[in-house]
This record gives sequence, structure tokens and C-alpha cells, in this order.
Amino acid sequence: MFEEIETDLLIIGSGVAGAYGALLASSMGARVMLVTKTELVSGSTQWAQGGIAFPDGRDDIPSHLEDTLRAGRGLSDPTVTREILGESLEHLALLKELGMDFDPELALEGGHSRPRVKHIGGDRSGLFLLKFLHSKLIGRITSLERHFVVGLRAAEDESVMGAWAFGPNQELIKITAASVVLATGGSGQLFSVTTNPPEATGDGIVLALKAGATIRNIELAQFHPTALMDGSLISEACRGEGAILLNKNGERFMTRYDPLGELAPRDVVARAVINEERSSGGVFLDLRPVGDLANSFPTVYASCVDLGLNPLSSPVPISPAAHYQMGGVSTDSHGRTTVAGLFAAGEVASTGLHGANRLASNSLLEGLVMGARAARTALKELEVPGHCDDAPPFVGGLDLYLRPQIQQIMTSCASVLRNGVEIQDGRRRLNLFESFETSLPSEVETLNLLEVGKLVLSGALARQESRGAHYREDFDHLSSIAFHVDQTKDSISLVP
Ligand code: SIN
Repeated sequence: MFEEIETDLLIIGSGVAGAYGALLASSMGARVMLVTKTELVSGSTQWAQGGIAFPDGRDDIPSHLEDTLRAGRGLSDPTVTREILGESLEHLALLKELGMDFDPELALEGGHSRPRVKHIGGDRSGLFLLKFLHSKLIGRITSLERHFVVGLRAAEDESVMGAWAFGPNQELIKITAASVVLATGGSGQLFSVTTNPPEATGDGIVLALKAGATIRNIELAQFHPTALMDGSLISEACRGEGAILLNKNGERFMTRYDPLGELAPRDVVARAVINEERSSGGVFLDLRPVGDLANSFPTVYASCVDLGLNPLSSPVPISPAAHYQMGGVSTDSHGRTTVAGLFAAGEVASTGLHGANRLASNSLLEGLVMGARAARTALKELEVPGHCDDAPPFVGGLDLYLRPQIQQIMTSCASVLRNGVEIQDGRRRLNLFESFETSLPSEVETLNLLEVGKLVLSGALARQESRGAHYREDFDHLSSIAFHVDQTKDSISLVP
């Protein structure tokens, strides 16, 4: 037996896209249910240091558009990007009206031609934003914490009409909803060292894939150039404030790779760091030029101190770490996936904004705009749920202890530098894992990582070129035509 719950709009995931979407939907008079597998304030949003890259007024939209498209290396959709940037100012005004307090200074981050990034509480932007949004949601919606969605429910016409979830005691719950928004975040846990929290296991990708949705460009994984050895992020804004990269010989090297130096787009800096690590034996970030580090970047300072490093007295060792999933569930500019009744927003989605290389701090921006768009569209297009007398699904899992093995395979085969032989070897090794039936969320998460890892490797093999974050040593050039790699349950295709 299982409990049954009904709502109009089901939002899965409580980060920026889910929480902001829920807030806007709750003012449209519908029943909104927000489900999260952890606590409401959790996930990658709360770890975001960099802020929100709102255009600095309408006049800045063309330049922000140009920066985004340049970083995206031919894969960003100009129309979608223009729409997102244009609409973002409406949300900035709304957040201010609701009482959100932004820091007065605008920050400069990699790939931006001018300072335009708004921070909140220094480098605690994501945490402060998320706490703010959830404080506004109290009493307006139904929230289910520690509920792990293990399958989407489909009506006879294959439209999505709810979900199956495990409750906090592994009890199965059946949720009926007219529409579902996936806002489940990314899959940084695919790799051994990541800036992402443990819950970033690509669950939404697997849910959408099984429901018949198209997954686009999932091979495009962004590696942040400056992380400490445990994956703690050192915000790019530190380089915006003067921090410099040095190799083991103490040489400043970035201008040898790009005229923008330390503030080149992330793909360039990450590859340069790997190159210098290989040639000199290590790379360091000198944070001493940043004025008052402990106060302006309290999270960065604390992360260094936790590892026994003193960034005020000497440069700290850094290396690239898995940071952001640029591809995801393919959506249009209103968050509609290729499956009726199913929407996606935030890191889980591929809208066309980030292209092959996300511009710094465009992620919270996209989460706000697309969270709002997806939730509003889902409510406008609400339909009475179709008929469905589905039985509880078979839920597959994989032993938790296999997670480090999957991460090790992905790290050796699909990191900053890739090649066909290693990718193929990775696929062969991932295909050896065998799943079993389970009711333990941690085991479902491990299987989700495996499934997303296979998609990443298939996409990486199909993308026979180097573009943005995807660098193939055996195809070290851009293909003449930019193309997307679309995958479904049983197909993979290259789409110009
Ligand atoms: C950072 O602060 O460097 C990360 C911000 C982002 O990923 O956009």
C-alpha cells in the first residue's frame, strides 16, 4: 500500500529554479508542491559563491549577450539568450521589491567584459538567495523534504502526470499532478573532485530520459579552474579582484594562453592550469592581491584555513574541479521538454543559454528566469491529469560503495582533456556494473550517476571536435558546423 497525494504543479528540487518557480506559481492561485530529497536549503545553489550576472541595466544587454555567446563557442542560442537576459531585469526588480539586499559593488568575473555580477553577502550569494526565497515560501506551498523521486508517472497518451517518491522511511508515495517541473540540478558527483554537494547525482536526467525526453549536450561538463584539493571552490571573483595564477616555478602564465589573462573564459583557464600542472608540477593561486580576503570572501578564506593553508601569507595550490553540467534535458525557451506535462529549469535543463562553456554567474540568472518561465507556463497549460492506473515502478539501484569507482572512471576518461580511446575504455568499464532492485535512495543515486556517466561518454565520443569545455586531444579543432548531441532512451543524433 502507498499514500496518494494530489497537486496541480509538482516541482522536484528546491534550489534557485525550483524555489523561485514555486514562489511565482504560488501567486497564481494553484496548488504547488515542492519535493526535495534533502532539506529545502540544500543542493548546489547554496554553494554558489559567484553571484548573479544580471545585465547592468537595459543598455548592458547587448554586451552581456555578446559575452555569453562568445563564451558559448557557437552553441548558445542567441534568441533564447536575449530573451533570458531581457527578462532577468523584471526578476531583479521583483527580488528587490520583495526585500532582497544585494551588495553595492558589482563584481568582475571571467569572460565578462565589465563588472556586472551582483553578489549577496560577499561570496555567500547562493546561500543568502536560497534562504531568502524559502523564507518567502513559508505558508504558500506544500513542501516535502527528504522525499526522493524515483520515477515519473505517465498517462495513456504518455504525458507526465505525477511521480513516485520514497518518503523519509523508504515508504512509497504516489503523487498525481497536472504538470511536473524538474529542477533537480546537475551531476558534478560524476567526478572524483567536484565543487558540487554530494546530492548532485543527475537524478532529473534519468527521470526525464525514462519518461521519453531528449537529453541535449550532456557531454559538456564545465570544470572550474580554481578549486582546492577537496573541491572547495575559490570564486572567480577573487581573480576579478586581482588574484593571480602561478606555476610551480613561480611564473605568472595566463597571458601566454589568452590576452584576458586570469579572466579568460573558464575552458581556457582550466586547460592552461592542466597544461602548467603537467609541465611545472603544480599550479597556485596567489590571493594576497585581494584586499581584505577574510571579509570579502569569507567562504574562500575559511576553506583555505580548514585545509591548513594560509592564503594571506602564501599562494595556495589549486586544480580544476567538476563544476557545472551545461547540457541537460532539452527544453524550449519556456522550459517545455519534449514530453507533454514535463518541464525543466536550472542546471538540469539545456535551454541554449550556456552553449559549450557557461559564462560565470549566468547559472543563478538562468535558474531565476527559467524557474519562473517553466512554472508559469506549466500553470498556464495545466490540463486535467489523464487516466493512469500505473503500478509502483521497479526501482533499480547500485551499491553505494561503487560511487568512487564510477567517479574514478569518469575522471580518467572525461575530464578537462579527453580522447576517443579513453572514452571508449570508460564506456566499456561502466557497462560492467550491474544494478538490482532497491528502496534505498543512496543506491538509486549511484545508479543514476552510472546512467548519466554513460550518456556523458556516449556524447563525448560522438562529439568529434573540441569546443568550449569539451576538448578532444584526437580532434583538437572546432567542427565547421556547430551541432548538438541529442540522446534519447534508444538513440543518439547530431543536430546542426
Ligand atoms: C565562481 O564563483 O567562480 C563560480 C560562479 C559560477 O560558477 O558561476
